[in-house]
Formats: sequence, C-alpha cells, structure tokens
Amino acid sequence: MRKKMVAGNWKMNQRFDEAEELVSEIADIIDAQPLDEDVELVICPPYLFLEMATDIASESEFHIGAQNVSEYDKGAFTGEVSALMLNSMDVEYCIIGHSERRKYFDEKDEVLAAKVNLALANEIEPIFCCGEVLSEREANIHFDIVKAQIEKGLFHLSPEQFYNVVIAYEPVWAIGTGVVASPAQAQEMHAFIRSLIKEKYGAELADDTTILYGGSCNASNAAELFSQPDVDGGLIGGASLKAKDFIQITRSF
Ligand code: 13P
Repeated sequence: MRKKMVAGNWKMNQRFDEAEELVSEIADIIDAQPLDEDVELVICPPYLFLEMATDIASESEFHIGAQNVSEYDKGAFTGEVSALMLNSMDVEYCIIGHSERRKYFDEKDEVLAAKVNLALANEIEPIFCCGEVLSEREANIHFDIVKAQIEKGLFHLSPEQFYNVVIAYEPVWAIGTGVVASPAQAQEMHAFIRSLIKEKYGAELADDTTILYGGSCNASNAAELFSQPDVDGGLIGGASLKAKDFIQITRSF
C-alpha cells in the first residue's frame, strides 16, 4: 500500500542505554506532537535492541523494523535470526538488500529473494533496497543495474505479495557521503522504478507502491526530495540517530 514513510536505519551503532534513550526521546516527541496521520515512522535498530524498541513502540505511534533476516527458515544456523522470530517480536518491517549487505556480506540476488519470501511468509514487510555505485552511474548503466536488482529480488512475487513490499532507492555514492542525489535524480529513478512495476504488475499496483529515497537525506534536504511526485519518503541512516533531526524529517512532507 502506498504510504508516506520515513524509516531510520541505525546500522551498527549505539549501546543499549543510548538506544533506549533515543527510542524514548522519539516516543516523547511524537506523543507530545503527533505525526501527520498519513505518515508512517519506522525505526530499524540492531536485532539486540528490538525487544526494547517494540515495547516502547507498542505504547506510541511508530513501527519497528529489523535490519536483516536469515535466508533460512529455522534450524542449525548458528548466529542467524529468522523471519518467524522477528514476527514473534512484533517486528513489522525488515530491510533487505541494503548495499552494505550486498557489498560486505556478499549477499547475492537469489539470497535476497529468499529473504523477501521468508519475510512476507511471516507477515513482515520487506524494505527492499536497490541502487547503483558511482562508476555505474558514470557509465550510464544505473537504470540497468536497478532494473536487474528489482527484477531478481522481487519480480518472482505474486501481485498479492508485491503489494506488501516497500522499495528504497539508495544510490551507493550518496550513502554516508554527504553527497545527496538531487531531487531530479531521485525523481527520475523513482519514476523509472514505478514504470517497471507498472509493466510487470499493472498501473494500480505501481501507483500503490511506496518508494523511499536513501542516501545523505537529512532535515535540511528532505522536504525538497519528498516534494517529488514519486518520492514517498526516506530511508535515513546517520540523521536517524538524532531524535529531533529524525522527527524533523518525518515532518517534511
Ligand atoms: P545515510 O543517511 O547515513 O547516508 O545512510 C543511508 C542509508 O544507508 C540508509 O539505509
């Protein structure tokens, strides 16, 4: 379902006490001044802090996502966390296919597709990331790269399954660099992604899909990005670790 959304990807940051303070501060701010009704706020802390976060979220107006999930459903996979486990902790979303997982953990398209399937089977909405590296943009193959990522990671899904997927376009050259995509660059790629969905699943589902932008999005540039017709919100890294900045971003529609 298409919705306005701001999701915070904390990555591997914070001690437990800091994480608890941050989630509590976010809850306090939005309890005092509620979010617009049509804006969904999601926080994606590390696994270890999910229980604390879902406890606080259950008393407030925000939602919790994980940053990863196992490609296996259960069993002898030491150190892994399954989609079923996430579901049992009231986790509603899961980031899948982040460029850091693709790069540092060598997660290939087939693995990401398996993760998407398990998330959906356990009623967790994937926030599926795609995006090109700088050399790919410079070589003018960024549309091909994003198309292949989406086709391989998502286009095996039925329309009913696809309805529950959120897409995040995160150009890798913009992640953590301070070099944000221009609103026109974001809009161009988001419109392209929506056109792919239209070709595969039809206009209605394309129009219903939430497509987030990620990469150096912050309280100063969010409004301009979110004003683009195909940008439905953001997946925020660094700026999601400061409660006031993060909430400011959720008020930038
Ligand atoms: P930054 O907002 O820190 O650039 O990170 C973006 C990101 O990777 C979110 O998943």
